Amino acid sequence: MTKNIVLIGFMGTGKTSTGQLLAARLGKTFLDMDQQIEAETQMPIPEIFHRYGEEHFRDLETNLAQRLSKPQNIVIATGGGTVKRAQNLQALRAGGVIVALHANAEAILRRTQKVGERPVLDREGADDRMGAILALMKERAGLYANADFQVDTSALEPSDVVEEILMFLRREGHFDA
Ligand code: S3P
Repeated sequence: MTKNIVLIGFMGTGKTSTGQLLAARLGKTFLDMDQQIEAETQMPIPEIFHRYGEEHFRDLETNLAQRLSKPQNIVIATGGGTVKRAQNLQALRAGGVIVALHANAEAILRRTQKVGERPVLDREGADDRMGAILALMKERAGLYANADFQVDTSALEPSDVVEEILMFLRREGHFDA
């Protein structure tokens, strides 16, 4: 079976919008890990964090990553913190190529401004969201470096990001890209 295409990256780097578009372009199924967890638990992510805590959410992520370790010819958007557990990236890498999306802090702030959707930022950045983003980006920088291909999406539309990824896939000999 053809490998999956797995998008990793910080919150607001465009994993969901790019993944959706990429899957549509390639005629593949799109799976967003956050949406899948919400569908399986019948609960929005902020509520999972609020009711059961972050570790419980991370356990749900790990369980799902394990189930996505086989090549299934799909496009997967991870959550921004999925790569915090090395075993998750290891599982996703077993079945797919890893594409990391990056963006600068200004773009991330712009794209994640709405309060109530991202519990990690709401928690750490109640008074200083930019400060929370910078601190978390610094803490996690190394985690997103470990990819087969990297794209800086700061000044790009999702359709441009898709073009960059398609060029990479063709270069790699991904026959259906
Ligand atoms: C998280 C990112 C979110 C979601 C959860 C935790 C994180 O996904 O999984 O709120 O720790 O970075 P997005 O990157 O899609 O916002």
